[in-house]
Amino acid sequence: MELNVSANENINGTLVLPLYEGSESVPESCEVGMPNSLKSQINRVLSDGDFKAKKKSTMTLFGGEDGKAILVGLGKSDDCTSHDFRKAGAAVTAGIKKSHGSELTVRFDNVGVANMGAFAEGMMLRDYSYDNYKQKDDDEDKTEVSVRITCSEAEAEELTKLVVEYKGICKGVHLSRDLGNCPPNDMYPEVFADMAWEWAKDFDNVDVTIINYDQAIKAGMGGLVAVGMGSARKPCMVIFEMNKHVEGRCPLLVGKGITFDTGGISLKPGTNMDEMKYDMGGSATVFGTMEALAQTGHEGKVVAITCMAENMPSSNAQRPGDVITTLSGKTVEVLNTDAEGRLVLSDGLWKAGEFDPEYIIDFATLTGACVVALGHEATGLWSNDDDFRTRIHEAGNVVGELAWPMPLLPAFEKEMTDSKIADTRNLGAGRYGGANTAAAFLKQFVPNRGYEKDGEQITWAHMDIAGTYWGSKTNTMVKNGATGIHVRTIHHLITKS
Ligand code: BES
Ligand code: MG
Ligand code: ZN
Repeated sequence: MELNVSANENINGTLVLPLYEGSESVPESCEVGMPNSLKSQINRVLSDGDFKAKKKSTMTLFGGEDGKAILVGLGKSDDCTSHDFRKAGAAVTAGIKKSHGSELTVRFDNVGVANMGAFAEGMMLRDYSYDNYKQKDDDEDKTEVSVRITCSEAEAEELTKLVVEYKGICKGVHLSRDLGNCPPNDMYPEVFADMAWEWAKDFDNVDVTIINYDQAIKAGMGGLVAVGMGSARKPCMVIFEMNKHVEGRCPLLVGKGITFDTGGISLKPGTNMDEMKYDMGGSATVFGTMEALAQTGHEGKVVAITCMAENMPSSNAQRPGDVITTLSGKTVEVLNTDAEGRLVLSDGLWKAGEFDPEYIIDFATLTGACVVALGHEATGLWSNDDDFRTRIHEAGNVVGELAWPMPLLPAFEKEMTDSKIADTRNLGAGRYGGANTAAAFLKQFVPNRGYEKDGEQITWAHMDIAGTYWGSKTNTMVKNGATGIHVRTIHHLITKS
């Protein structure tokens, strides 16, 4: 989809008309350039009550030689927010068929630049499908759709700016989805690292460093090594640095990148195990966010670390009962090899301290327990700083990506540091509160400033995206598969909050 803004009054191709509930005729401000017969057809449908303009509903009208129209509902005008505009835009994209032709013109009734922008964003976000692995049938070749958002002269500059920004952010979201949807035989640690390396070549202000398996062993990254050593595809850590010469403290993102999680020796049950290809969703979020920042010309410094490994059972795999030493020097009693995300993250979080960041946020498809708690509707959000947690929650609300506050309680920390033979254990004492015990485990590996023994712990948040990174039926920005969630939240957090 190619989407542009223009103050031109012509209607080219199919007209897209967003309408509030209760509209009985075409709004006056939308009439310019509209062929008469199309207008009267729309008016008839509206006055007869055949299109009620309920949120996200659409209807196509075929006006013969006078063209076609897609009506799209915004719901009631008094409770319609920019989220509804975004969803309406996505609903249009979802409903586009070959019969609508290759040109669309969107016409709004004085709804303001922010809402027009949100509609455009929704259209672009939903314009995604993953069919790299399908044979192309010439007949089925999709026609490239070109969309024109029309507005007044006065709005054109501001709306164009907004649309350009959303295009950049969308590229990040779509990259995150591409990474997540890629099958695990083709997406493994080295592939992810190569992709990051190649990607960075396009930007003067981004550097990518890869810490390979041998280097990780030498550096003492015992968590990453223990999880990844059972696979023929060895683990690695990928570090992205954007605008590294900018002075001062910066945001630092850490991602769990398990390219496939079999559970290891604590093997998972077979049903739906294929879904564990999404277990690198945290690393995809991080990579996608870097893409969004790079595409939108972010000038601040940002660092990101992804911890890549494949969790396999083999004669080289770690065992339940092993005690490993992480980069922090802290030891972990590995009681379940399926609780592997926290092990790779322990090294990523500790490594983050080297960059003396303003704050650290980690993203991980970490626990099934988080899906039990919040379903596919909200990400679990923990932080060692209440204000920071609120800031992330609010950034999520602005862009329509829910991140729900969860408790970081001392009792959970106690549970996770209660090993008889090591500093920590990777499994809680029981099943209950599994998402919270996982968060409490991670906190043990968030360094103090300057790694000072009694110093202040770096501001940190943990986002468990096990339920929201994939499989969400209510996320209307995506048809299926990887959602690419939180690229937009974090882009907003870093650039606007
Ligand atoms: N990758 C899984 C968590 C997960 C489950 C993500 C379902 C998405 C959907 C993680 O590595 C895992 O296996 N966690 C275990 C932890 C347990 C052994 C303490 C879990 O949630 O069962
Ligand atoms: Mg696991
Ligand atoms: Zn996992």
